[in-house]
Amino acid sequence: MGKLDGQVALISGGSRGQGEVQGRLFAQEGASVVLADVLDAEGELVAASINDTGGDAVYHHLDVTEQSQWASVVDAVVEQYGRLDILINNAGIARLKLIEDSSLQEYLEVIQINQVGVWLGMQAAIPAMKAAGGGCIINTSSTAGLEGYPGLGAYVSSKFAVRGMTKVAAQELGRFNIRVNSVHPGPIDTPMIRDPQIASRAADDTSFNGPIPRVGRPEEVAAMMLFIAADATYSTGSEFVIDGGLTAGSALTRQAD
Ligand SMILES: NC(=O)c1ccc[n+]([C@@H]2O[C@H](COP(=O)([O-])OP(=O)(O)OC[C@H]3O[C@@H](n4cnc5c(N)ncnc54)[C@H](O)[C@@H]3O)[C@@H](O)[C@H]2O)c1
Repeated sequence: MGKLDGQVALISGGSRGQGEVQGRLFAQEGASVVLADVLDAEGELVAASINDTGGDAVYHHLDVTEQSQWASVVDAVVEQYGRLDILINNAGIARLKLIEDSSLQEYLEVIQINQVGVWLGMQAAIPAMKAAGGGCIINTSSTAGLEGYPGLGAYVSSKFAVRGMTKVAAQELGRFNIRVNSVHPGPIDTPMIRDPQIASRAADDTSFNGPIPRVGRPEEVAAMMLFIAADATYSTGSEFVIDGGLTAGSALTRQAD
C-alpha cells in the first residue's frame, strides 16, 4: 500500500532537482506522476526511469509562464487519468543581481516564472480538482519568501508573493476540499545552487549556514511534500519550513558564542 495509491500528481519543473526527486518518491508511493518542464530530454528520461522501476510516470512539455500550455497539460492529464489530485508548483529560477544593477526585463523574467507561473498553475488545476472532489496544491516558495537576501531582489519578491497567494487560495478553496500550502526550503543541493554564481555566494556567505550546518538534500524536501500531500489533512494556508534552522535566528545571533 502506497500513501498516494490511485492519486494523480502534476509536478512542474519535474525534469531535475527537487521536482525529479519528488516525482520519484510520489511514484514509489503509488501516484501516477506527470512531470512537466521546459527540459524535455531530461524529463522524458526521468519519466522512463520511473516507469522502468515499476512506477507510472509521463512527461509533458510545459513553460509555466504560458497559460495555454497549462491548459493543455491539465487537459491531457484529465484525459489520460480521469482526474488531478495533487499539483506541486515547483518550477523556478534564481538570478543573483543587486536591485540597482537589474534591468526591468531581468526582474520580470524571475517574476514571470516563479510568481506568475505558480498563479497560472493554480488557476489551471482548480477546476480539475473541484471535479475530482478535492485536491492538494503545494507551492514552492523558499526561505527567500520569509526573509530578504541581498542580491536576490527579484527572487525574494517572487517567493514572498507565492507565500501570499497560497494563503488567499487556501481561503478560497477550503470549502471545495482543496488544501493549498507553501513550502520554504533553505539551500538544497540541486543544479540551482550548483550554478557557479550562486555556489560561490553560498560558499562565502555564513548566512547560508543554519544550526544544521550543511545544505539540504532534495530527498528531505520530497519527504516534506509527501507529508503535506498524504498526511497533513488539517493544514491549509500553512508555511512548511525546511531549512536546517536557517530562519531560526540571524547570522549574528548564531555566531554569538
Ligand atoms: N535549490 C535551492 O536551494 C532552493 C531553495 C529554496 C527554494 N528552491 C525552489 O525549489 C524549486 C525547485 O528548484 P531546484 O532547486 O530543484 O532547482 P533546479 O534548477 O534544479 O530545478 C528547477 C526546474 O524548474 C524548471 N523550470 C525553469 N523554468 C521553467 C519554466 N519556465 N517552465 C517550466 N519549468 C521551468 C527547470 O528546467 C528545472 O527543471 C524552485 O522553485 C526553487 O526556487 C530551491
